[in-house]
Amino acid sequence: KGFTMPRMIVNDRPVDIAMDPRTPLLWALRDAANLTGTKYGCGAGDCGACTVMVDGAALRACLVTLSECEGRFITTIEGLSPDRSHPVQQAMVAEQAIQCGFCTPGIVMAAAALLARNANPSDDDIRDAIPNLCRCGVQPRLLEAVRRAAR
Ligand code: FES
Repeated sequence: KGFTMPRMIVNDRPVDIAMDPRTPLLWALRDAANLTGTKYGCGAGDCGACTVMVDGAALRACLVTLSECEGRFITTIEGLSPDRSHPVQQAMVAEQAIQCGFCTPGIVMAAAALLARNANPSDDDIRDAIPNLCRCGVQPRLLEAVRRAAR
């Protein structure tokens, strides 16, 4: 179709995505790579449901294009911890910081990226790093969960 396939490393495996390089990463992950743990909420960078890690930093997958991800390391919720034993996941369960669960993968990715660069975040650090929207209102429990994961 007249474009070269962007190549990136997704969850430690090289992947060629047969999509227009201007496509948002979110759709490549969900539709081409079948990694549907990354959620589509707003598509406009506001909600955080689509948060993944790009080279270890939390990024909203609806806001980055495939060409911007060329050669970079993408981690999705499926690759963070295949057995769901990441400390953030365990703490979210322990603190019951999950209601409907739609926003949970994005929150976990944002929290995991935060703790990877700051092992002892303040409450303000946590609020700044995880502004993800949750219509069920888990934010107070989320704060507890991230504190617990940091211990
Ligand atoms: Fe990307 Fe809402 S879907 S921020």
